[in-house]
Amino acid sequence: MASLVGLIGFPLGHTISPAFQQAAFDYYSLPVEYHAWPTHPDLLEAKVGSLRDPGSLGANVTVPHKERVAGMVDRLDASAQAIGAVNTIVRENDGLTGCNTDAYGFITSLRVTGGFEPRGKRVVLLGAGGAARAAAFALAEEGAASLVIANRTLRRASSLADDVRDVLRDIASISLDGPDIEGAVRKADLIVNSTSVGMEGGGAGSASPLPPGIIPSSALVYDMVYNPTETPLLRQAAQAGAACLGGLPMLVYQGAGAFELWTGREAPTEVMFEAAKKALERMAQPRAHS
Ligand code: ATR
Repeated sequence: MASLVGLIGFPLGHTISPAFQQAAFDYYSLPVEYHAWPTHPDLLEAKVGSLRDPGSLGANVTVPHKERVAGMVDRLDASAQAIGAVNTIVRENDGLTGCNTDAYGFITSLRVTGGFEPRGKRVVLLGAGGAARAAAFALAEEGAASLVIANRTLRRASSLADDVRDVLRDIASISLDGPDIEGAVRKADLIVNSTSVGMEGGGAGSASPLPPGIIPSSALVYDMVYNPTETPLLRQAAQAGAACLGGLPMLVYQGAGAFELWTGREAPTEVMFEAAKKALERMAQPRAHS
């Protein structure tokens, strides 16, 4: 019988994780099925409990469950502990381990796909949610020179800055809509969007989180949003002559990290990228009536 693994989130909508994870299991002919498991918050504890079954490898976890799940597993790895969120659960014989491969996915995509070395660089991070926490810790660990966290809710940005300050001293929090954003962005080597602004189906879908005309041409603009592939922010960046990186590589590399934790095998990242791109293309096509 096939082992089971899947993605826990709510709502899940159109997720491409099953497509590229299944491609990786199939590449090695592993008898594993990867499912989408939309899980209402009231049913989260029961769902996590079901992962203790011997036929389970574990799960991926996404919005809005990443923080709560950290309190439902038996232990946390160092990354999940530092970030305070779990995106991967690994079942072992003696219990469930909560892991976080988002920071790995972020840094690997930044270096491998973006060709960008964060050491010594000035970074502006837009957003202060779960994805921002992973990016902030990763950038601090990798020796970024400074970090400005800009968020709609300033209190959340300040709280994240406080958590990271031990590792990175030159850190500030500002309001995303306030007067300080322009100066920070103009001086940045790297601008990372971790807010959901610009996301397909998101409330602020057609908007950019930044005002026009402030992105420097020397910067790399990294938008964690992967659908659409060209977001309003990336269009702005391209117009400014800046380098652009979309969110698909981070999604695939965090998934590759999870695959390696579940299987102990090297993730076939090219196969995963190929499957992820095809799944995105299928999503972009107008749906036939059924
Ligand atoms: P994730 O785990 O993907 O980071 P999250 O924890 O829900 O998801 O965080 C979403 C981020 O997008 C937050 O920084 C949020 O800002 P608030 O902390 O002020 O809520 C940001 N965000 C969502 N919608 C936004 C909008 N319309 N304008 C600006 N920021 C927005």
